[in-house]
Amino acid sequence: MLKSVDGEMLNVPEHVAIILDGNGRWAKKRFRPRTFGHKKGAEVLEQICEDAWDIGIKYLTVYAFSTENWKRPQDEVDTLMDLFHHYLTDYLGRIMKNNMRIRFIGDRSGLSEKMQEEIYDLERESVYNTGLHFTIALNYGSRDEMVRAMKRMVRDGHHDPEEFTEEMFSAYLDTAEMPDPDLLIRTSGEERLSNYMLWQLAYSEFVFTPVLWPDFNREELINAIRIYTGRSRRYGGV
Ligand code: FPP
Repeated sequence: MLKSVDGEMLNVPEHVAIILDGNGRWAKKRFRPRTFGHKKGAEVLEQICEDAWDIGIKYLTVYAFSTENWKRPQDEVDTLMDLFHHYLTDYLGRIMKNNMRIRFIGDRSGLSEKMQEEIYDLERESVYNTGLHFTIALNYGSRDEMVRAMKRMVRDGHHDPEEFTEEMFSAYLDTAEMPDPDLLIRTSGEERLSNYMLWQLAYSEFVFTPVLWPDFNREELINAIRIYTGRSRRYGGV
């Protein structure tokens, strides 16, 4: 939808998905441990949530921890889990103040019981909030999400192949009830999807920026929307 953003008319996407990348390199450039970059990345994310809503974005979905990220050194995994835990507990007050609705996608059964409870509480407490729909992908992998969805479909008694539709499958994904992303942004110069929302990103525009996630800001977000505004989406038509 065309909106005035800081005095400029832009086609503001309803749903933006972001692959947060480059925390480690950002810290390395400063001769600091990788975890320092993750902490800064978490602060930046909080600000971007506010900017996104202010700009007119309705859904923001970020890739925080993938099913493959467990392969990282144990101390980095521990720090990331601590950071998520801190974020989930500390953040509740601010989520309510900002009227944000929070959701999680990914395989929760692989997270600690404490974290599963925190996730459940956050989702429940914010369910009627009408501000930014903020979704965090934790222990998320798109192929894993699709396999879990298929298992649930079969368990629910959907055995007749003739009955299967795209809509039915979408409704079994972790993102059920969310619109597909219009725009995907990946920071840090990497240009791949890394098993992120493969089904949901089928028609999205991709913007890759060399900026490392901890350096990402409102200007960079607007710049990505400017690039998006310059593209026309045809969904396979002409
Ligand atoms: C990628 O950088 C980043 C991650 C795997 C973690 C993302 C986590 C945060 C930004 C923390 C905040 C998030 C929440 C939801 C509290 P990288 O480590 O792959 O960086 P590199 O590619 O430079 O090594």
